[in-house]
Amino acid sequence: MKATIATLPGDGIGPEVMVEALRVLDKIGEKFGHEFITTESLIGGAAIDATGTSLPDETIKTCEAADAILLAAVGGPKWSDPTASVRPEQGLLQIRQHFGLFANLRPVKVYPALVDHAPLRRDLLENVDILFVRELTGGIYFGDRQEMGDGDSSYDTMLYTKSEVERVANVAFRAAQGRRGKLTSIDKANVLASMRLWRKTVVELHEDYEDVELEHLLVDAATMHMLTRPSSFDVVLAGNMFGDILSDEASVLAGSLGMLPSAALGADTFGLYEPVHGSAPDIVGQSKANPIGMFLSVAMLLRYSLQLEDEAKTIENAIDAVLADGLRTGDIAGQADKVVSTTEFTDAVLAKL
Ligand code: IPM
Ligand code: MG
Repeated sequence: MKATIATLPGDGIGPEVMVEALRVLDKIGEKFGHEFITTESLIGGAAIDATGTSLPDETIKTCEAADAILLAAVGGPKWSDPTASVRPEQGLLQIRQHFGLFANLRPVKVYPALVDHAPLRRDLLENVDILFVRELTGGIYFGDRQEMGDGDSSYDTMLYTKSEVERVANVAFRAAQGRRGKLTSIDKANVLASMRLWRKTVVELHEDYEDVELEHLLVDAATMHMLTRPSSFDVVLAGNMFGDILSDEASVLAGSLGMLPSAALGADTFGLYEPVHGSAPDIVGQSKANPIGMFLSVAMLLRYSLQLEDEAKTIENAIDAVLADGLRTGDIAGQADKVVSTTEFTDAVLAKL
């Protein structure tokens, strides 16, 4: 097949992991006989420096013409002045909103090879396989907000409509049907009105999915259950902010934030794919970044936007094999492990491919 992929390397370690992701993509194209045409555009801090805005029109146009977007990371200390009027993160929020990418899939699984690296006990980590479905274009991230002129008060608004909850909950229920048949919905219905609407909507929708076991957890309790019984979760549905927080927490199960991929999907097959990790300013330019979250994001892109399941699996299997061989980037290395660079790790993945 022929497909166009808009790449947005962004900031920090973003460009470093993007370069390696494109090597993986090329290899898959070659192996399976596909033509992947890639474009490169600016977003985040790099875009602010070049154009004054974090999401230039040019970038939106290029993405609109593509079949999917592959993004690496945005942000960094250079642009984090709290008084700044433009921020790299705004570009990311805007692109999610522009393309109506309301469902954020964040799978978290534990690799047998990394069980002893995670800070939790081995017996707790066995069989951990969670799919977070995070609402991505609503809630407090997109509600009315105001920084008051007096500097002494500010507000953000958490608003959800029934249809916003329904469309993302549908994604989560369907995902549970294709997995182990369990859905945990996260809210704070004991305090917040928007979260009472959330729970009521999920309960009503459950009637259409009687084969799925539904559990509700308040977000504070959920953070605890995530660490005390992680293998009991299958699909976890959460609003924008709670999903953001819980998915970072869950990365601890996988051994490193660098391991996690994500897909942001809307009503059709178009999607934006990005590792969950950020721009990691502390390790920029040292070839220390873990490219796995990025590679797994490429696999998700092939799976969800291009329906290339075999190709996606091939990447996932290659990563399994490289980890089983003992290769580690610094973030997932134990004391006895040999640490390899981002590029060396990628070389090993390409060799498996
Ligand atoms: C994420 C990030 C973003 C978010 C930031 C960079 C805006 O933390 O994708 O999880 O909060 O959504
Ligand atoms: Mg986050």
